[in-house]
Amino acid sequence: MTERELIEKLDREHGLTEAEYEELIEGRDAGASELLASLAAEKRKDVFGNAIYTRGLIEISSICKNNCLYCGIRRDNRQAERYRLSKDEILACADEGYGLGFRTFVLQGGEDAYFTDAVLCDIVSALKSAHPDCAVTLSMGERSRESYKALYDAGADRYLLRHETADPKHYAMLHPAEMSFDNRMRCLIDLKEIGYQVGCGFMVGSPGQTAAALAKDLAFIKSFEPDMCGIGPFIPHRNTPFGGEKQGTLELTLFLLSVIRLTLPKVLLPATTALGTIDPQGREKGILAGANVVMPNLSPVSVRKKYELYDNKICTGEESAQCRGCLEARMKAVGCTLAVDRGDAPGHPVRGLQGAAG
Ligand code: 5AD
Ligand code: FES
Repeated sequence: MTERELIEKLDREHGLTEAEYEELIEGRDAGASELLASLAAEKRKDVFGNAIYTRGLIEISSICKNNCLYCGIRRDNRQAERYRLSKDEILACADEGYGLGFRTFVLQGGEDAYFTDAVLCDIVSALKSAHPDCAVTLSMGERSRESYKALYDAGADRYLLRHETADPKHYAMLHPAEMSFDNRMRCLIDLKEIGYQVGCGFMVGSPGQTAAALAKDLAFIKSFEPDMCGIGPFIPHRNTPFGGEKQGTLELTLFLLSVIRLTLPKVLLPATTALGTIDPQGREKGILAGANVVMPNLSPVSVRKKYELYDNKICTGEESAQCRGCLEARMKAVGCTLAVDRGDAPGHPVRGLQGAAG
């Protein structure tokens, strides 16, 4: 098929075969990207209008037992500054965010053993009782099924766990031997079965990533049907084994955002901080390529620089209110408005809201 035919098929059928995804990626040029972006932006408008959902990100711990080769807070990075927020600090960030109009809070952190089920469940339920009209999203890495279930029962609504790559060989290049692709997949399946709105995702341009690996990511996303999908460029961190590698490109990230929007029209697709880091207008460009979520930082300014997954991360000096105002202006500039509601995944039954049992 020609590039144009592949794009038309993707638009019409919401998906391609893995081989076709690979062909689409390899054959892309500026014209293809432009066509894809316009179809994807149209699709976003069909499903969500001009509303961009926003989630307040609270980075609760920079302590991590893992050693992912790409990540700045990996355990072997002795230079990383470690911190952990207390329950009161987390609740204070959420209160401030609530006042700024946020109705979803994302608690993200490294795999920090301090956050046992008891500790994290207590924080989740406190957050839900303080703000019953808000959704709580967790992004705390790999845990047992029992743990995910306990957190869900404590009130967590959503869980973000990027699959990182759907190619097991590529997974092994990005992670130490003690981490396993199969466990990552087990986690995602458990989360879905428990009832969470689930987000997967991957970095664009990570070392060793090929068009074939990306095609596997897209085929995986199509079959897994996540509610959210986080993708952003890989950006090297100086104190990691990948410190000297090339960063992912704006061009390929935007292209893939459009492909994902056409594959899963209703997916919640963030224009990520990493995208804003590699290009001053990265997030706006992401929206124009089909993204529909932004996730400004609500962490205390005193810790923001310490949650450093990659070099030159933006928004580390700004207050929450500044980020909120900044993003509002940026979204307005591309014809969109920031929505002030939970922004649930369309089509996903929302537990508890309509008095549903369980
Ligand atoms: N560049 C870009 N993204 C990164 N992440 C971790 N390290 C980097 C990096 N160097 C992403 C991973 C992880 C998410 C929280 O941040 O995909 O799942
Ligand atoms: Fe943080 Fe622009 S979003 S300063």
